[in-house]
Amino acid sequence: MKGVSFLATVAILALASSFVSAYDPSPLQDFCVAINDIKSGVFLNGKFCKDPAMVSANDFFFSGLNIPGNTGNKVGSNVTLVNVDKLAGLNTLGISLARLDFAPYGLNPPHTHPRGTEGLIHFQFNIGKTVGLAFAGLSSQNPGVITIANAVFGSVPPINPDVLIKAFQLDKNVVEYLQKAFAPN
Ligand SMILES: *[C@@H]1O[C@H](CO)[C@@H](O)[C@H](O)[C@H]1NC(C)=O
Repeated sequence: MKGVSFLATVAILALASSFVSAYDPSPLQDFCVAINDIKSGVFLNGKFCKDPAMVSANDFFFSGLNIPGNTGNKVGSNVTLVNVDKLAGLNTLGISLARLDFAPYGLNPPHTHPRGTEGLIHFQFNIGKTVGLAFAGLSSQNPGVITIANAVFGSVPPINPDVLIKAFQLDKNVVEYLQKAFAPN
């Protein structure tokens, strides 16, 4: 009987511990270096709030999502992102959205959003040529984006080619080619 109640106690503790996990809220910006001297300035994790008495419907309004982005670029797509910088009402709401336009055979290159996850609805139209349109909802007011190929081959300063050769099992010429192709201007 003693063994059973001991087991029951352990089980209850184990169950309870899953409800007490605590964590810091996700940061809204890339860095926020702490300072000890508060006189050197005040910076906020996020944006200041407008006086609620001055808030109007316009603060939650964005126009222009009906306008297609220009897809005449190397990847054949264009992302129109509406984040907190474009729509101030999104501040603290943890959400943003994007319109994606695709030329025929265009694509949105592999990427991640460091501060949010993404849900996508995709439409395809045939207007003489097949073009695509998608809307993305993102779980952050400022999700950020890291495009893998640019981050790997176009970083500044560049990643040592020897590392890329081994990591991606590529020929030296291929790495040099890719680093040139993705070098920022
Ligand atoms: C996306 O479209 C806008 C509006 O046409 C244009 O200003 C911008 O340069 C385009 N971006 C890319 C990456 O092609």
